[in-house]
Amino acid sequence: MRVIAVMNQKGGVGKTTTSVNLAAGLAEQGKRVCVIDLDPQAHASLHLGIDVAGGTNSIYQVFAGGKTFTEVIQLIEQNLWLAPADIDLAATELELVDADGREFVLRKALAAAGASEKFDYIVMDCPPSLGVLTINALSTATEVFIPLQPHFFALQGLSKLFETTALVTRRLNRELRVSGVVLCLYETGTRLAADVTDDLMFFLEQSDPEAPWANAQVFASKIRRNIKLAEAPSHGTSIFKYDPASSGSQDYRNLVLEVIAAEQRIRSADQQPSQKAA
Ligand SMILES: Nc1ncnc2c1ncn2[C@@H]1O[C@H](COP(=O)(O)OP(=O)(O)OP(=O)(O)O)[C@@H](O)[C@H]1O
Ligand SMILES: [Mg+2]
Repeated sequence: MRVIAVMNQKGGVGKTTTSVNLAAGLAEQGKRVCVIDLDPQAHASLHLGIDVAGGTNSIYQVFAGGKTFTEVIQLIEQNLWLAPADIDLAATELELVDADGREFVLRKALAAAGASEKFDYIVMDCPPSLGVLTINALSTATEVFIPLQPHFFALQGLSKLFETTALVTRRLNRELRVSGVVLCLYETGTRLAADVTDDLMFFLEQSDPEAPWANAQVFASKIRRNIKLAEAPSHGTSIFKYDPASSGSQDYRNLVLEVIAAEQRIRSADQQPSQKAA
């Protein structure tokens, strides 16, 4: 099972759009996928047509200890499940502040639910902050995907994000790796977008080989700005159902195929340490 945290502490960069459409696209390709909405704004849940205001179970109850992970997930369409969020999740930051093991609540809940047998992918939509919910995502994840909007300040925020990942890797989760940066809201043909992309690749190439982002890549599939991607959430469905012919749909499909293509590479990397040990 690949467990992906879609994370960037900066707001409005495409985290939710990427989480939902990546997950829906993977499900369309026959993968069993569960989206975990970790943002109290609940945008991923709404994007998938689920409004928890009606009293549905939510991931908040897992953090509060009232429900199991299995009790809060629901089937959205074939192969696609959702652990929805609601506004109560905003209280989790405070409620867990002094709790023992607060960084591992989600990880334990997934293990108890046998998630690794049930799903091929978990995709976690993180809130735009580095609080306890994001830390739970990072301690659970095997991979971090960073959506980035190419603009002048994008790289500054990125080093902070990488430092956080490195810290989490050292203290909480040795398996965590930054797999890649997804360029979102990409303006094709602009000088700025091309320059930021070049700077980013240079930054990654220069990085310390021991760093958790040493093997990170910039995904070749760039997500162009496309109004259909902004319209799909209000229809409560992914871009693939809302407008399969749109450029947004093409771009996310390419990303999905790129992510699936990496499975083999990840499997062989995982096997290497045990081969060495043998
Ligand atoms: N490629 C795109 N083309 C056009 N609009 C987009 C694209 N990607 C995202 N959007 C729109 O931009 C806005 C921000 O995107 P999104 O909600 O995915 O960002 P986010 O990082 O999850 O934001 P937050 O930090 O608030 O959670 C949304 O209105 C979304 O519909
Ligand atoms: Mg979001």
